[in-house]
Amino acid sequence: MTLLRFLHMLGICLWLGGVLATITITLLVPEEKPVARASGLRMVGRLHSWIIAPGILLALVTGFVLVGRLGTTQLPPSVSAMAGVGVVAGLLALFAQYPTAIKLAAISPAAEQNPVPPALHRVERRLTIVSTIATVLVLTAMYFGAVV
Ligand code: HEM
Repeated sequence: MTLLRFLHMLGICLWLGGVLATITITLLVPEEKPVARASGLRMVGRLHSWIIAPGILLALVTGFVLVGRLGTTQLPPSVSAMAGVGVVAGLLALFAQYPTAIKLAAISPAAEQNPVPPALHRVERRLTIVSTIATVLVLTAMYFGAVV
């Protein structure tokens, strides 16, 4: 159980750490030169593939195994709330946030154009909205996890 809990926390750290790095890059990227703007957006895609998505999968898989070990009959309400909110956050991040970040990385060369095409701004805005919702849900799940 201790190793499982450690892996559960590790997954959440990777997930939130990657999201914080993404937020930092997307806030700072507009101040950079066009070539650096484009590579910053590619980094956002790589962060999602190498750090955030593996973190989400680790957090969800270990979460389900932990539930299995606890036994469904004795789940405290806060654990059920964490699991419910965590699953919604994970699905949103995997099926909406992740593909948007990959799309942003794919169209990142457009960031070198002047003016930057509106399509790029639209994808950036979608990523900001979806990641904000998913991150608020993760923090909510963390709150329920903290009061277990
Ligand atoms: C996605 C965001 C999630 C966050 C931030 C989160 C957070 C936490 C935290 C902080 C703990 C440690 C509680 C403690 O032992 O003091 C924990 C444990 C646990 N988590 Fe999560 N969790 C998440 C998702 C999930 C999911 C999706 C599931 C199940 C499907 C799950 C199931 C569990 C279980 C069963 C434990 C052990 C509770 C116990 O030993 O009493 N978690 N989680």
